[in-house]
Amino acid sequence: MSFELTWLGHAALALETSGYHLLVDPYLSHNPAAAVSADKVAADYILVTHGHGDHIGDSVAIAKRTGATVISNAEICGWLAKKGVKTHAQHLGGGYTYPFGHLKLTLALHGSGLPDGSYGGNPAGLLLTTGSGEKIYMAGDTGLFGDMALIGEEGITLAVLPIGDNYTMGPADALRAVELLRPQHVIPIHYNTFDLIAQDAAAWAEAVQAQTEASVHLLKPGETFAIE
Ligand code: NI
Ligand code: MN
Repeated sequence: MSFELTWLGHAALALETSGYHLLVDPYLSHNPAAAVSADKVAADYILVTHGHGDHIGDSVAIAKRTGATVISNAEICGWLAKKGVKTHAQHLGGGYTYPFGHLKLTLALHGSGLPDGSYGGNPAGLLLTTGSGEKIYMAGDTGLFGDMALIGEEGITLAVLPIGDNYTMGPADALRAVELLRPQHVIPIHYNTFDLIAQDAAAWAEAVQAQTEASVHLLKPGETFAIE
């Protein structure tokens, strides 16, 4: 097994690879779509794309309970470290090889203020290369940007993209993102959590399948996509 990715609702993901449990943007206790509870979920590492409450979520509580290391930008890691959380800071364009694989932070067009108003640096996307060589691009919250074509040049196995609109790319721009990224597989997230980001994901999937080479996988919160 190379990796298993479970959508936990909103932008929260659980990723298992090389025997490690990774959580991405674990917003669970206030997430109406959460598929697991923050006091039960497993984590060896927690990846936080930006400081907004619907992404940093339960990171502090989960990190303290599990002893997981949080990986994020330097500003967010500094804020977490003051709360007693173990961190590894990276920044945009920088990569590091962890026991679970290689992780690079990528550009994201968004904000990153922390819930208490602290400065959260720049928002990021995540490009994870697994131990067996699959590349998973998790865009984080972002608008469309042309340099997604550069990320696509890396050869993306799976792209996880927001489609909710209002705060991030909506369906039309997310389709253009797929055209730039040229991934083999796509999973849409960051939609239907609240009315403001309600979308017809089935219609989006149909359009993407008609206009690109990518296979779209529509998950319900709690469902898993795996690459063997
Ligand atoms: Ni955000
Ligand atoms: Mn968000």
